[in-house]
Amino acid sequence: MKKIILSLLVIPVLAFASENLKSLKLPFYEYKLKEGKGKELVEVNCQMCHSLGYVLNQGKMPKKTWEHIVEHMINDFKAPIDKKTAEEIIEYLSKNYGKDN
Ligand code: HEC
Repeated sequence: MKKIILSLLVIPVLAFASENLKSLKLPFYEYKLKEGKGKELVEVNCQMCHSLGYVLNQGKMPKKTWEHIVEHMINDFKAPIDKKTAEEIIEYLSKNYGKDN
């Protein structure tokens, strides 16, 4: 008898929960890069492994720091970015998200 009562209680709870799950929406934030030369290169090369949030949430940084970061991605995480592209990316990032040392 106890089991029957228990399952009668559980069913509406499950039904309610699954109804709610169907409409569950996870927040999705799309990062927008500033317009400028090299923007597409960052879009293509810098969100293969993580969102642009990783790049933009750092705030403004000196060019040297951007250089370090891009080299870190290439050398340590094996980002497939050639030298010329890397330079253009660093140029874009330090121009649009850079600050003086
Ligand atoms: C091959 C994969 C890969 C690619 C491509 C890549 N990253 Fe990353 N990146 C990572 C990983 C893994 C981390 C997190 C590791 C960590 O916390 O250091 C990370 C973290 C970061 C961080 C956070 C700070 C830090 O050093 O951890 C920044 C900024 C960043 N990436 C920028 C970039 C930029 C700019 C590009 C494009 C030039 C890029 N990433 C491309 C793998 C990648």
